[in-house]
Amino acid sequence: MKRSDPAKPAKQGKQDKPEQQPDTLAPEIRPGQSIALLQELHILTRDGKLNQDSRRKLKQVYHLVQFIEPLLNEIRQDHPAISLVDHGAGKSYLGFILYDLFFKNLDDGSHIYGIETREELVRKSTDLARQLGFPGMSFLNLSVAESTESSALPARIDIVTALHACNTATDDAIDFALKKRASYMVLVPCCQAEVASVLKKNKAKDLGKTALTEIWRHPLHTREFGSQVTNVLRCLQLEAHGYQVNVTELVGWEHSMKNELIIASYKNLPRKRPTERLQEVLATLGLEEMGQRFYTEQLAQAGAAP
Ligand SMILES: C[S@@+](CC[C@H](N)C(=O)[O-])C[C@H]1O[C@@H](n2cnc3c(N)ncnc32)[C@H](O)[C@@H]1O
Repeated sequence: MKRSDPAKPAKQGKQDKPEQQPDTLAPEIRPGQSIALLQELHILTRDGKLNQDSRRKLKQVYHLVQFIEPLLNEIRQDHPAISLVDHGAGKSYLGFILYDLFFKNLDDGSHIYGIETREELVRKSTDLARQLGFPGMSFLNLSVAESTESSALPARIDIVTALHACNTATDDAIDFALKKRASYMVLVPCCQAEVASVLKKNKAKDLGKTALTEIWRHPLHTREFGSQVTNVLRCLQLEAHGYQVNVTELVGWEHSMKNELIIASYKNLPRKRPTERLQEVLATLGLEEMGQRFYTEQLAQAGAAP
């Protein structure tokens, strides 16, 4: 594709260097997107091409952005200066692309915070945001759990994202969002081993109780069923806090168990039934000891609500 409309400079700041525009660009690249950003993220080569891996990553991030944009517009109807926290940010593909496509033109104090435990990734993302002139992006070298108490984050968080945040980091992101009373959560969980390990530990004891334990008798099934049950419990936990939950797939099934997209929108829905269901599922599967993870203190208080 011949590119006739060069990328617009970011409104919220000045870039250190003017962008080098390749003559031709992959058709996936949208008008106005920062070519320098895509090259720095190694999504685009210097001559404007995408390799197979980066095409998949870009497709995944675009797909997520398509779900997130309407939520951001909803928030803007209510107030300016959106706060988005991206947990387990990694190289911050999602944060950067979201900023480039949506946030950079807002000019209203909206901000994206990336939370990441790997110090070198935090440093690189901080440098890249500075280099690109993206002042509404910050990166914090904290675990998700630590960020819940961090004074570096504002009191109001509108939207929480977590794309493949490892193992229980997704659960910590849910806990963070519940404590911050975020309006929206967009979660693509990674493999979570905790529930599967409890199913495995109690297997011998549970096998005689009901034929349903056949569902997780074989080790491979323990892992897969554990992963599915984890997401079911997460959805019930969110519903039990008054959120409306939608579950769909991210893109194709090439990422198998890591391809589930959970979108939660706070609607103050009735909490009683999902709370009861959550407790019932935990008890039926012999997972009572996981109550701490999914049946939080807040939920115990909310249990009295309708
Ligand atoms: C699989 S990568 C995903 C990165 C990015 N979200 C993406 O999809 O490209 C998971 C990232 O989460 C980070 N991480 C894992 N556990 C974390 C925790 N408890 N708190 C913060 N970051 C965590 C890892 O260091 C890693 O960079």
